[in-house]
Amino acid sequence: MVASFPATVALAVSCGTAIALGVVLLMTVKPDLAESVAMVVVAVTAGLLHGIGYAKRPSRHTTLGRHRKTGGFMKILVLGATGGVGQEIVRQGLEHGHEIKAFVRARGRLEAFDGRITVVEGDLLNGSQLERVIVGQDVVASGFGPRVPVSKSDSHLLQRFASALTSAMLYAGVKRVIAVSVAFLFKDSIIPPAYLAGRLFFPDLVADASEMEHVFANSGLDWTIVRPPRLTGKPRKGAYRAREDHLPRFGFTISRADVADFMLLCAENHVSSRKIVGVSN
Ligand SMILES: NC(=O)c1ccc[n+]([C@@H]2O[C@H](COP(=O)([O-])OP(=O)(O)OC[C@H]3O[C@@H](n4cnc5c(N)ncnc54)[C@H](OP(=O)(O)O)[C@@H]3O)[C@@H](O)[C@H]2O)c1
Repeated sequence: MVASFPATVALAVSCGTAIALGVVLLMTVKPDLAESVAMVVVAVTAGLLHGIGYAKRPSRHTTLGRHRKTGGFMKILVLGATGGVGQEIVRQGLEHGHEIKAFVRARGRLEAFDGRITVVEGDLLNGSQLERVIVGQDVVASGFGPRVPVSKSDSHLLQRFASALTSAMLYAGVKRVIAVSVAFLFKDSIIPPAYLAGRLFFPDLVADASEMEHVFANSGLDWTIVRPPRLTGKPRKGAYRAREDHLPRFGFTISRADVADFMLLCAENHVSSRKIVGVSN
């Protein structure tokens, strides 16, 4: 739960006043100790004000959910539909009344949706198979990504997938695609240190995701890249933040369900076209 801006300011002012009074009292008794305490107080206050500044600036899409269009029926092709984000796109897409088609290598994990969606099995890296399932769709939504731990054979999976998908979409005449990438690519994020963590712990995934984004960016398609930080399995809250070109400040996690919610929002409202968007709780 995040406190409102006025409440945060009131709390900061009360704490600051109480601490300042304490320091004045201490100065009369132990001047040396008071000096050290005063320095700590200045540092903490600066930190608080910095935090308040962050809280005050709204994220680009913070309120966009309130303006969500409803009832705009679409034919959505979901890729990576058997994964965590993919299944959420399928589930929420059905709730919103869309027609869902899933193109998967094995349908096992989609049994819960039997009879409510179209499932086609095949090779997601094969351009002509992709083209056949894409024809006639309005939007492609992708939660596709390497299964963890990432095997050596999957080291260029995202780039190969993006190349096959973008060519197939151009041939099929379908332009809109919304795809999940990784927040590790945000070089300017300091808290969390996304880029540094990615380079240190997942350098191959970072390189592959970067190549995938490059393919989308140069495809001529109407793309949106969604970069989440660590994904959780929590339920959809709908109260997440989204910022174009940046990870929301202090954005450490987001649920797969909220990522799917945002992807559907992009599809339905046609927002963030040709944009990279950071999303977080
Ligand atoms: N985990 C995190 O904390 C995190 C953070 C930021 C971003 N991300 C990104 O977000 C993506 C989605 O996350 P998630 O948790 O939903 O992933 P996930 O559950 O691992 O789902 C990955 C999906 O991609 C499919 N896939 C993988 N390799 C394939 C291949 N060679 N051919 C066909 N399908 C293939 C999987 O199909 P199968 O069911 O057939 O394997 C599955 O549907 C991740 O892949 C990752 O790139 C993850």
